[in-house]
Amino acid sequence: MSLVAKPIVVSLGLRSYPIFISDSYKQLPTQLSSLSLSKQGWVVSHPRLLRRYARALLGPLQDNGWTLHSLCVPESESSKSLAMARRLTEALSHQARMHVPVLFAFGGGVIGDLAGFVAAVFRRGIPYVQLPTTLLAQVDSAIGGKVGVDLPFAKNLVGCFYQPRLVYNHLGILQSLPWRQRQSGLAEIIKYGVIADPRLFSFLEKHLEECLSLQAQALQFMVARSCAIKAQVVSRDEREVSDLRAHLNFGHTLGHALEAATHYRRWTHGEAIAIGMCAAAHISVQLKLLPESDFQRLAQLIRRAGLPTVAENVDHRCVLQALEYDKKFIHGRPRWVLPTRIGKVVVTENVPDKVVRRVLANYLRTGKMRGRK
Ligand SMILES: NC(=O)c1ccc[n+]([C@@H]2O[C@H](COP(=O)([O-])OP(=O)(O)OC[C@H]3O[C@@H](n4cnc5c(N)ncnc54)[C@H](O)[C@@H]3O)[C@@H](O)[C@H]2O)c1
Repeated sequence: MSLVAKPIVVSLGLRSYPIFISDSYKQLPTQLSSLSLSKQGWVVSHPRLLRRYARALLGPLQDNGWTLHSLCVPESESSKSLAMARRLTEALSHQARMHVPVLFAFGGGVIGDLAGFVAAVFRRGIPYVQLPTTLLAQVDSAIGGKVGVDLPFAKNLVGCFYQPRLVYNHLGILQSLPWRQRQSGLAEIIKYGVIADPRLFSFLEKHLEECLSLQAQALQFMVARSCAIKAQVVSRDEREVSDLRAHLNFGHTLGHALEAATHYRRWTHGEAIAIGMCAAAHISVQLKLLPESDFQRLAQLIRRAGLPTVAENVDHRCVLQALEYDKKFIHGRPRWVLPTRIGKVVVTENVPDKVVRRVLANYLRTGKMRGRK
């Protein structure tokens, strides 16, 4: 059953696609049937996830004439690598000779980014479908076509824009998500509140416990609202040509640097951007762009969600180095997305070094603060 009457649409002309929000995969074959695909599917996923949900996912597809194969990758950010992309493209080139294969990205953001990247480069592009299974992936990474892999020293450095044919969010599947992954997804939802939707932000403040326990109504509201915001942003600025899509990077300037500096092992993506959001909002307060009271609301919500607000025990030098490798580092300066109130942000490269240093000294708790190049 579809939980949201009409699908949310990412409007990109001939490349437009729907985002379905449902409580099972039963409607998936029907939604796929209008896309003129080959019915030869390769499911990219993690073994544990596939074992657990094979029947729920594969059953409805096989009943509707799909032939399915699986391509399994280990559960870890380190699977988002060129080596893994190569392994998958080689497997596809051996196995998928006769048809144009359809890739199903069945997993969290790691699977979505990796499988989307493989779909983009294999035979110069094959269709793929996002079947996100984490909260973070349902509200964010599965939408918008940013696909890619990491290099050892920086995140998402190799990639492209390549849109899926369809995104299908099965909310029930989130019930098996560990608590930490729920918190991580919530960080991206808090982000949407700050960049675009004060009502969503207030909803999270008021119903945080229901949101974290994935209570049906709260879950449906926050997923649908987040998907709608992301779809609208991508529809208006697919390739980050204007600043609009860059708004989605609120918290990611420092967040990505923290992840890279700790080799993607220390924090989940959401935890890293939670720290990044606090630091960016603090910069905003220092520049007198954001009222202190809004900063306090954000920091409090992040704390209540059980997410970190500062980075303990990190090497400052590694974080600053990673900041410079980041794609958001434009004209030799990091690009910051700064809130001006709950619901509105601006993008700027003009944050004085001394402000960045002062704020980062508060958010990066140990190790010596070294100078920027
Ligand atoms: N492309 C984009 O626009 C975009 C946006 C945000 C984040 N990302 C990327 O997303 C990645 C993070 O994604 P993530 O947070 O989903 O992490 P993830 O993909 O690593 O998944 C987290 C863990 O949850 C497990 N899991 C997944 N679904 C589950 C379920 N239903 N039940 C139980 N366990 C489940 C996974 O096996 C994994 O161990 C990062 O690489 C980040 O860069 C991409």
